[in-house]
Amino acid sequence: MPQDIFLTGITATGTPHIGNYVGAIRPSVAASKDPEKKNYYFLADFHALAKNEDPDMISQSTLEIAAAWLALGMDTKNSVFYRQSDIPEIPELTWILTSVTAKGLMNRAHSYKAAVQANVEGENRDPDKGVTMALYSYPILMAADILMFKATKVPVGRDQKQHVEMARDIAQRFNHHFGDVFVLPDPVIDDHTAVLAGLDGRKMSKSYNNTIPLFAPEKMFRKLIMKIKTNSLEPGEAKDIEDSTLYDIYKAFATPEEIAVIKKQYAEGIAWGAMKQQLFEYINDHIGPAREEYERLMADPAIVEAELQEGAIRARQVAAPHLDQIRNAIGIRKLGSR
Ligand code: TRP
Repeated sequence: MPQDIFLTGITATGTPHIGNYVGAIRPSVAASKDPEKKNYYFLADFHALAKNEDPDMISQSTLEIAAAWLALGMDTKNSVFYRQSDIPEIPELTWILTSVTAKGLMNRAHSYKAAVQANVEGENRDPDKGVTMALYSYPILMAADILMFKATKVPVGRDQKQHVEMARDIAQRFNHHFGDVFVLPDPVIDDHTAVLAGLDGRKMSKSYNNTIPLFAPEKMFRKLIMKIKTNSLEPGEAKDIEDSTLYDIYKAFATPEEIAVIKKQYAEGIAWGAMKQQLFEYINDHIGPAREEYERLMADPAIVEAELQEGAIRARQVAAPHLDQIRNAIGIRKLGSR
């Protein structure tokens, strides 16, 4: 069995929050240090274009996400860490894949279908209102990201599983026509990583505007934690750990022993205010050193840029020869070369 190649992208929209940390950043940073693993991590800024029209937002978000991953100890020597738009082979491969992708396959993408459904329900005359070709072809760009580096395993959230399966379909179809050029990827969905709720108790997500930014300045961080929704039980009344956002967040950070202590405090009726203060102190201590590093990087983006450029060089060393092979397979060749 050849070694697995792991690859995952992070769309450059928004500021990293504690839900991202627990769900994606923490496991990825740990994996990046594993000498047994070959990992690619990249900032999907071309994908961000499909969702957003504010130029400053994309670059700001790219900086914040890259700085956060680096501050948390991402091993950029053992893994390859780059920005999608620094790899010109990716948009070229996207076009090549577009020529073998059935339109019907794209019609079935959940994200596209959701946009159409919203239009139909909103009684829009045009079911495709507001749907750009970038949104529609989003899975093809994602397939190029994956197939470019011969990734075998693609760690993603549940919402992205279908896209990875589409990448696999596209690769299969290409291979069927043009020979064994692509490796077929599999999605990897970790059911054990926690999905955190946000301030209002719904899933923490930028689209719900209920997030706690991972590296918010300490005062703001405390303020946000104090805002987390609880029920109206009084101090002294026993509290249930089920359905408690405060407990879930604590649990995502703490050790089993520490969790046992909190459980006991819930049973004994800890006041919500005291629990919030405790949660704030705990997480604040946990991320304090990384926050300092994050602030240093945010103040000096050239350090982050240099890391990304370094990563792009290494990524292109893999992408360029593979693209040559792909071009040759489909007949985009220098005249007289074959
Ligand atoms: N679409 C993914 C998301 O929104 C991000 C992404 C882009 C990605 N390209 C990828 C993930 C390739 C895995 C592999 O989360």
